[in-house]
Amino acid sequence: MRKALIAGNWKMNTTPDEAKNLVRVILNELNNSDDVEILLCPPYISLLSVKELLRGTSVKLGAQNMYFVDKGAYTGEISPLMLSDLCDFVILGHSERRQYFFETDEMVNKKLKKALEYGLKPILCVGENLKTNEAGKTKEVVTAQVTAGLTGIKPTKELVIAYEPIWAIGTGKAATGRQAGATIGLIRSIVSGLWGGGTAEAVRVLYGGSVTGSNITEFITEPDVDGALVGGASLKASEFVNIINQTAKLKQAL
Ligand code: 13P
Repeated sequence: MRKALIAGNWKMNTTPDEAKNLVRVILNELNNSDDVEILLCPPYISLLSVKELLRGTSVKLGAQNMYFVDKGAYTGEISPLMLSDLCDFVILGHSERRQYFFETDEMVNKKLKKALEYGLKPILCVGENLKTNEAGKTKEVVTAQVTAGLTGIKPTKELVIAYEPIWAIGTGKAATGRQAGATIGLIRSIVSGLWGGGTAEAVRVLYGGSVTGSNITEFITEPDVDGALVGGASLKASEFVNIINQTAKLKQAL
């Protein structure tokens, strides 16, 4: 059975002091539960201090992005080599990276290969924009993104995919559980086609986009949805812990 994963993507929020405080409060409010894997993805400059605070806990650490070259003259970039000793996970191809920083499927694919080479678990983000959704083309776009993202990559159970419809990100207008479940089922079938059913059954696929304590149940009760990639609500410790606790309870009941 796949272990549920609740990941907090803090995006470009929290100063170094705020990041430390947020982690302390989250850790303080967390109950010990082995039913859910918990992941925090703070800004790069807080990775070291957050890692220190997470020492001795089972909470995992992730980066929000990385470049696909080991080292060299790439001013301002962070390499997989730098992250490999620090992080467990790395978010790749987030729609904000694709939209504002012009990341292409090819770049995301290169990043995925590098992350795996360095033992980082990649979280491949895919999802359609509003126009595509309204045109009924979600299936085509998500299929193309997953297929391009996984090109030339050997089957691995370490991969995580996050389905994050762009229209649901930061809008307060989440997809319904049924919509998320349907697209995530499609994603699993694409992975199955590429990598075989055994691996596809082990790969975790998350939903992301306006997830809160009020709607997490809808997603977690969908059999193909293995957790959530949480943005805004992960910046509020009690809300984030609430999402984790509800997920744990639902998973225990399954
Ligand atoms: P929100 O939860 O703020 O909608 O963000 C989702 C997201 O983009 C997580 O990566």
